[in-house]
Amino acid sequence: MGQLISFEGGDGAGKTTQIARLANWLDGLGVPVIRTREPGGTDEAEAIRTLLVAQKADWDPLAEAMLHYAARREHVEKRIRPALTSGTWVLCDRFYDSTIAYQCYGQGVALEDESALRQFAIGALRPDLTLLLDIPVAAGRDRTRDRRQSRYEEMNNDLHLRVREGFLAIAHREPERVTIIDAAEDPESVAAAVRAVVARRFDLS
Ligand code: TMP
Repeated sequence: MGQLISFEGGDGAGKTTQIARLANWLDGLGVPVIRTREPGGTDEAEAIRTLLVAQKADWDPLAEAMLHYAARREHVEKRIRPALTSGTWVLCDRFYDSTIAYQCYGQGVALEDESALRQFAIGALRPDLTLLLDIPVAAGRDRTRDRRQSRYEEMNNDLHLRVREGFLAIAHREPERVTIIDAAEDPESVAAAVRAVVARRFDLS
């Protein structure tokens, strides 16, 4: 079986860059690895992503969480599980912790509702390791100022503060799965920290 590693964090934490660097490092060690993202990762899930991320809309929060889970179900069944079964490692840019942070902590969906949706959509699948790239909200927003803002990035600052709190709360509840990485550091230091955690967790060198 491959390993499932998710990267989480607020907008502007540098997940995409760090995933690319970790994928290169694993590749160099001869580990078969794919990179993917949520919402998205299959054509159908990317279509749902457009609804959620690119278009203006005012979803009911539970409906929004359900759309994220429809996309996740697609992604898990068609891409993540087959890769893991074939021994390929999966580096996923966001996974269900983003639903907990954004839809529950940010938008008010009950934690029990997220957990019921999760069980229904993906069963017991959990990341083997989650790296939380943590950065203060203002610093993350500074980094994304120059690119086109997504629907979530346009949401108010208070929501983003609650999202960060949500991620940190998950990390404190599940320290064996989730490791917090200081993402305010320069990309090289963050990459070294990420490699160190992965090497230790999976006994690689
Ligand atoms: P990103 O892939 O550029 O980070 O953008 C995806 C956006 O979608 C991001 O702002 C967070 C949001 N999101 C949720 O609100 N819930 C989720 O379950 C996921 C996966 C993402």
